[in-house]
Amino acid sequence: MEPPVVLISGKHSFLIEKFEGKLHTHSGILDLSVLGERNFGDEIETHLGEKFKIMPFKPPDFFKHFKRGSTPIMPKDIGAIIAYTGMSPDSLILDAGTGSGMMAAYLSYFNKYGEVVTVEKRRDFAKIARNNFKLARLKNIHQITGDLIFVADGFKKEFDLIVLDMKGDIDFISRAKDILRISGYIAVYNPYFEATKRVYNTMIKEDFREVQAFEILRTDLEFKRVGTRPVTRVWHTGFIVIGRNS
Ligand SMILES: C[S@@+](CC[C@H](N)C(=O)[O-])C[C@H]1O[C@@H](n2cnc3c(N)ncnc32)[C@H](O)[C@@H]1O
Repeated sequence: MEPPVVLISGKHSFLIEKFEGKLHTHSGILDLSVLGERNFGDEIETHLGEKFKIMPFKPPDFFKHFKRGSTPIMPKDIGAIIAYTGMSPDSLILDAGTGSGMMAAYLSYFNKYGEVVTVEKRRDFAKIARNNFKLARLKNIHQITGDLIFVADGFKKEFDLIVLDMKGDIDFISRAKDILRISGYIAVYNPYFEATKRVYNTMIKEDFREVQAFEILRTDLEFKRVGTRPVTRVWHTGFIVIGRNS
């Protein structure tokens, strides 16, 4: 077993990047040096007797433990983008802006035999994302720091999927058409109705096919002794517009 791992007890989850030193938790101190001799599924105990299960660091942990620069896209929206674009595991994918690297990390993880090119114009965010990719041991991500509008001059008609989560998304849609393969998909994520409508109309104008705009709403359930009811933790995040190149 190699780091990183996560230690889980009830709702608490700690990311462990090195098997050394002590970790102070809400319920006592953990000696991390013992982790080297343990396996996934084993438990370690704090000095007060609280047990933590040792688990591998997996994509659902990215959202909990990645450092954040700009606001990351949520897993519910990432899932929809992957499902509705039919992303296959040998794709060449363009992602912009990188932000905290959440979208790029999931794309990389499920695109095992392919590559992800991710573009971010802010150096500070690019650095945060680089550290997140390193933490998650993701090796098929190529980071470019620069403005997508200029960076894209160097791209050919080679991408299977383009994901845009950045200001200026509308201005890039016609360029996207030139660098997407036939039957390649574009997915644009935007928090506002007005911009989403413009993205939708621009995709239609640019002759993308099967254009669809939607929102994914997640309703959590709360199980109490008196009964079960929906609870709204996060309601609106963003709208997704997807089109297929023809
Ligand atoms: C909402 S964040 C993206 C979050 C990212 N999808 C994630 O999951 O972590 C938007 C990012 O786009 C970047 N950005 C805005 N315009 C850009 C451009 N023209 N080229 C490259 N990056 C850009 C911003 O600096 C910001 O980091």
